[in-house]
Amino acid sequence: MKDQLLAIIPEFTEIADESLRDKCISAFTDAMQIAGRTAAELAEMPFTLLISPCSVSFVDHTRRVTHTALAIADTLAEDWQGEDAMDFDRDILLATALLHDVGKILEYEREPGGNWRKSESGKLLRHPVSGAGICMKWGLPDQVVHGVMYHSHEGDGVRATTEAIIVNHADFLNFEPLKLKYG
Ligand SMILES: [Fe+2]
Repeated sequence: MKDQLLAIIPEFTEIADESLRDKCISAFTDAMQIAGRTAAELAEMPFTLLISPCSVSFVDHTRRVTHTALAIADTLAEDWQGEDAMDFDRDILLATALLHDVGKILEYEREPGGNWRKSESGKLLRHPVSGAGICMKWGLPDQVVHGVMYHSHEGDGVRATTEAIIVNHADFLNFEPLKLKYG
């Protein structure tokens, strides 16, 4: 399953710290196993149910948010040299971006007809909550759990790291314009 995951989301290999990388992959593949979801299905699953039909897959969204987060971070690092407030940890940022929506694997399920809908679990636990739970289960650092737990509206007013703020904005940059046009 690890090889399947890396084939569709190769950005996991960019995490430099081997232990952190392994924990991220374990958390992601664990969510896949719990939901009984293959890599191929993740490439078909929409990243949101708020835009229908949604042409962007969960896999493409996860990769694009990661790319956007890194681009934002690189720009901040170049423009704010010497400003501690803008410091970020690249590995923590990568882990947070790659795992920010991992809970959606549990939040969504396929209807018998093939469409996607909220699972029974997802009706009670939105993906930031289930995603944070999976991250804690696999021993991800608190900074990553924080970023996953608070990447969406749950985090308004409580985001406490630069990495979490970057991922929040990278996520909404990859959602709001689509919602405006197609939602
Ligand atoms: Fe997202």
